[in-house]
Amino acid sequence: MTPKNLLIQEILALEKERNAIILAHNYQPGIIQDLADLTGDSLELSRKAQETDADVIVFCGVHFMAETAAILNPEKIVLLPNPAAGCPMADMITAQDVLRIRREFPGVPIITYVNSSAEVKAESTVCCTSANVNRVVASFSEQNTLYLIPDQNLAQYAARHTDKTLHYWKGYCPVHHGLTASMVEKAKAAHPESIFLAHPECRPEVLDLADIVTSTSGMLRYVRDSAHSAFLIGTEIGILHPMRRDNPHKAFYAVSDRMVCPDMKRTSLEDVLRSLQTLTPQVRVAEDIRVRALQAVERMLSI
Ligand code: 13P
Ligand code: SF4
Repeated sequence: MTPKNLLIQEILALEKERNAIILAHNYQPGIIQDLADLTGDSLELSRKAQETDADVIVFCGVHFMAETAAILNPEKIVLLPNPAAGCPMADMITAQDVLRIRREFPGVPIITYVNSSAEVKAESTVCCTSANVNRVVASFSEQNTLYLIPDQNLAQYAARHTDKTLHYWKGYCPVHHGLTASMVEKAKAAHPESIFLAHPECRPEVLDLADIVTSTSGMLRYVRDSAHSAFLIGTEIGILHPMRRDNPHKAFYAVSDRMVCPDMKRTSLEDVLRSLQTLTPQVRVAEDIRVRALQAVERMLSI
């Protein structure tokens, strides 16, 4: 048995012993996605974290995702195998900023992308993900003005699907915001036969060039069901792994090989094994913040 296979066997044995479940985001390294019990986009992983009866959740993703699992499961141990895995966009807004927005826009609901801290969620009306943002916006049937935080691109995407006035924070994902229209045009010229799929975290001018705009799991479903055989992928390159693995007769091209999220790439098999052995690092949320953040997360999950 190779050292890697040995490591995987050790993880799986310990996972069983601990009554644990391993969740992985679609951007995780391929070997981690293949190891996981469940993979998905942010919305799917939140739902799976809510439904599990495991005692331990090993969250292979970034901090805000493990924190959302901890908000939903205060009685469970939630592990983030590599504690350095953060999200620069989540760090672009603080709870103090949200309080200032609330003072400036009294009575205006605040829709908060799950890519945010528990403290920020606690000051918000409702959460959203890239998979449900339009439904969440539409759910405010009585309000004509809403405020979206922290992603300016997700907010501008949502604004295209509603007549409401959407104010927004100027945060962004460096991985998606770094993709420019000219980079897309170049990639399209190199692969003219491809359908171009883009994530809503991309700039508006990039979305203008897209055939399909959807979340990571939306992309996985689209390429699986599509009759087309070539796809240009406008999101973090980790998603190419399940696309190629599950659709061996179709071709997938990264729109740019610069679309790499270093935080999503931090999780290793060694980290997963160590965290199951030591039951650290645990992600915990102070109870007063957790109960308020939970309201925003549960409101989203009910929509
Ligand atoms: P989704 O998987 O929900 O589309 O999220 C993308 C993302 O940037 C997560 O960090
Ligand atoms: Fe954050 Fe972007 Fe990385 Fe997702 S891909 S974790 S939004 S920096």
